[in-house]
Amino acid sequence: MNLILMGPPGAGKGTQAERLIEYYNIPHISTGDMFRAAIKAQTPLGMKAKEYMDAGALVPDEVTIGIVADRLAQDDCKNGFLLDGFPRTAAQADALAKILSDLNMSLDGVLNIEVPDDILLERLTGRRVCKKCGATFHLVFNPPKEQNVCDKCGGELFQRSDDTLETAKNRLKVYNQQTEPLIAYYSKQGLLKRIRGDQEIEQVFQSILDVLE
Ligand code: AP5
Ligand code: MG
Ligand code: ZN
Repeated sequence: MNLILMGPPGAGKGTQAERLIEYYNIPHISTGDMFRAAIKAQTPLGMKAKEYMDAGALVPDEVTIGIVADRLAQDDCKNGFLLDGFPRTAAQADALAKILSDLNMSLDGVLNIEVPDDILLERLTGRRVCKKCGATFHLVFNPPKEQNVCDKCGGELFQRSDDTLETAKNRLKVYNQQTEPLIAYYSKQGLLKRIRGDQEIEQVFQSILDVLE
């Protein structure tokens, strides 16, 4: 399966990705996770990405496209991949089409997780992520069994620095301006699959499997 997961900040892309990559046994390619790893490792890429991410803005296309091109060319993507948070601009979508055609690959589907705006802000500000394994929780909607401790690996949970109300609002604005138009782009190509994201986490997952199978 060669898939793209689309949807606004907080739609549940990462949450569904955790389940989908296990189900299909494919690598999870999240540009946001790659940038956060680079920031942690204090690489030049990380330094550059940090200023944009902290403002809730997009990292420039030329940087982002390069890291995805390198990642898709690796061997473990030959049997499928799940892109999460890429593409996010028209230029990225065009670049992706070129990258895939150069690699003799094509897309099987673009899953668009749809959630109303008011719910998104609540999801973002209450999110907690595991420092060790990256698993995602929510203080109210998906709380860990033990406060501040990851159910999966026992790691400590933290709040993403871009999950403050102010930055989250800006991320939603940027999404509406720059990424939302890609829905029409993939719809025209017959690849778009609409998923209702305002259901229980496991129901969203089932809806995705239903449209794919
Ligand atoms: P990125 O990390 O991709 O963030 P995002 O797109 O804003 O999306 P999120 O990760 O915030 O949300 P999600 O949809 O994964 O939701 P989650 O499953 O965690 O990007 C971060 C930044 O990196 C960008 O702002 C930009 O600067 C940069 N960047 C990344 N990619 C880029 C690109 N291609 N080009 C340029 N810049 C780029 O869920 C959210 C919360 O809701 C969690 O707490 C979860 O437990 C809860 N939840 C999930 N599903 C449900 C449900 N069904 N019901 C109730 N609660 C739920
Ligand atoms: Mg995410
Ligand atoms: Zn963990």
